[in-house]
Amino acid sequence: MKIEAYAKVNFTLEVFPEREDGYHSLRSLVVPISLSDTLDITLRDDAEIHTDSPYKDDLALKAALALRASRFVQSESPGVNIKIEKRIPAGGGLGGGSADAAATLIALNELWALNLPREALAELATTIGSDVPSLVMGNSVIMEGRGEKVTPFGDFPQLSLVLLNPGIFSSTKQVYQKCTPRVTNDPKILYNIRQAVQGGSLSDIANALMNDLQEPAIALHPEIASSMDLLRSLGVEKPLMTGSGSTVFGLVSNEDEGRKIANLLTSKGHKAWFVKSVVR
Ligand code: C5P
Repeated sequence: MKIEAYAKVNFTLEVFPEREDGYHSLRSLVVPISLSDTLDITLRDDAEIHTDSPYKDDLALKAALALRASRFVQSESPGVNIKIEKRIPAGGGLGGGSADAAATLIALNELWALNLPREALAELATTIGSDVPSLVMGNSVIMEGRGEKVTPFGDFPQLSLVLLNPGIFSSTKQVYQKCTPRVTNDPKILYNIRQAVQGGSLSDIANALMNDLQEPAIALHPEIASSMDLLRSLGVEKPLMTGSGSTVFGLVSNEDEGRKIANLLTSKGHKAWFVKSVVR
C-alpha cells in the first residue's frame, strides 16, 4: 500500500529546562503540512523488515521493529518492504524522519490488521522519536513533555504557507545546547495562538507565532535569518523557523499567492515549497 508521510511545522515552540533523561521539556503547537514523503509498503513472504532509507537513523525501520516487538502484535506478523520516496529535507525542522515513522505505524496497523486507535500508536511512537506521537495523530496537536503527551488542538483551518529551506543542516543537539530555557510558564503564548487560529485572521496568527529555538539556531547559522529576510522581501509577514531549523515558513493569504512566491524562489535556485496545513 502507498501512504503519504506528512511533514510538520511548529506554530509555537516553548523550551523549558532539561529533564533527567537529558531532553528538554517542550510545549508546541504542531501542524501537519502537505509536503510529504511517499511510502510504498508491501508484505513479504518471510518475516524480514527492509527499508531503502538513505539515512543511518532510519525511523521507518525503527517504527516497524518497535510495533512488531510491542504487546499489540500477538502472533508472528509477515515481514515488509518499505520504499521511501523522499521529498522532505533532512535536518530541516520539518520532522521528515518522524513523518516516515508515523506513516509506517499507520500503514502497518492496517496491513497487519491490528485495528489500533491512533492514541495507542501515539503511545508506542514515544519510543521512536520526539515528533512521532504528534505526527501519528494526523491533525494539529499540542505536544508536551519530550513529545510523548499529545492533545488534539481541535478545529484547524486549511492555511496556505510558503516554506524556504536555506540548504543547511541544523543539528538539533547543538541548537538545544545553545538555547536558554524559559523558567516561568507563560500561558499567554498558547492562549494567543488559540484565539488567533479560532479567529481566523492571518495577521493575528502570524503575530502569535513563536519559537524559542529560533534565536540560538540563527546564532549558529545566520543563513536562517537571511532566508527570513528573503521571505519578508516577497511580502510574507512575520516568517518563523520551524523546530530546530533550518527551514523557515510564513503564512500567505491564498494558494495563488503562495504558489507565485514558491515558484519565484525555486526559479532562483532556492529550496521552496507552497504547502497547506493538513486537516484530517
Ligand atoms: O530528538 P532527537 O533525538 O533528534 O534530539 C537530538 C538531541 O537534541 C538530543 O540528544 C538532545 O540533546 C536534544 N533535545 C533536547 N530536548 C528535546 C529534543 C532534543 O534537549 N526535547
